[in-house]
Amino acid sequence: MSVELKTERLILRPFAEADLEAFAAINADPEVMRYIGDGKPRDREATREGIVKSRRAWDEQGWGTFAVVETDTSDLVGFAALAVPNFLPEILPVVEVGWRIARDRWGKGYAPEAARAAIGFAFNDIGMTRLVSCIHRDNTASIRVAEKLGMTLERETTVPEVNVPCKVYELNR
Ligand SMILES: CC(C)(COP(=O)(O)OP(=O)(O)OC[C@H]1O[C@@H](n2cnc3c(N)ncnc32)[C@H](O)[C@@H]1OP(=O)(O)O)[C@@H](O)C(=O)NCCC(=O)NCCS
Repeated sequence: MSVELKTERLILRPFAEADLEAFAAINADPEVMRYIGDGKPRDREATREGIVKSRRAWDEQGWGTFAVVETDTSDLVGFAALAVPNFLPEILPVVEVGWRIARDRWGKGYAPEAARAAIGFAFNDIGMTRLVSCIHRDNTASIRVAEKLGMTLERETTVPEVNVPCKVYELNR
């Protein structure tokens, strides 16, 4: 897949195997992973599996998770994801837009900047008409990102596997 999106400060493109070191470092940070899944940092092997899965999604569907690269430095600084939230069966079928940014780049508006590009791709290039984001109830930074994107609260529920309270935000094309 040769999709590449450019924003003012970022480049979005599918993950490559060469992203493993940088992405594993982001996923090993407990502060980054605090409100994701079971709240535990992810080891290098789990990150490697995540990259493989994401590359397969691009190959099979023509869309998936974008690696987010800082244009000025060429550093991998996070992701903007398009993925099916299988962990929350009650809202399926739907596609989730997600975001994760390295801690040393927080507060620069990178997540909304990257997510805006991924959402534009989903709506304009793929033809999706609705996206959701599932966010831990206490993840105020991520809730702010959803608000900046113009998403609205659709429901509050619990992620069954991990028994975690989450808010579902939605955005229609
Ligand atoms: C949520 C996240 C992606 C936001 O990314 P970002 O690029 O920093 O987004 P923004 O710069 O727009 O900041 C969003 C909010 O984060 C908070 N924030 C900003 N800088 C911060 C910092 N240094 N430390 C903690 N929170 C901070 C603020 O509440 C901010 O809202 P504001 O702009 O109205 O003040 C980022 O905090 C992150 O990667 N968190 C861990 C992964 C995660 O939880 N992802 C979402 C899962 S649903």
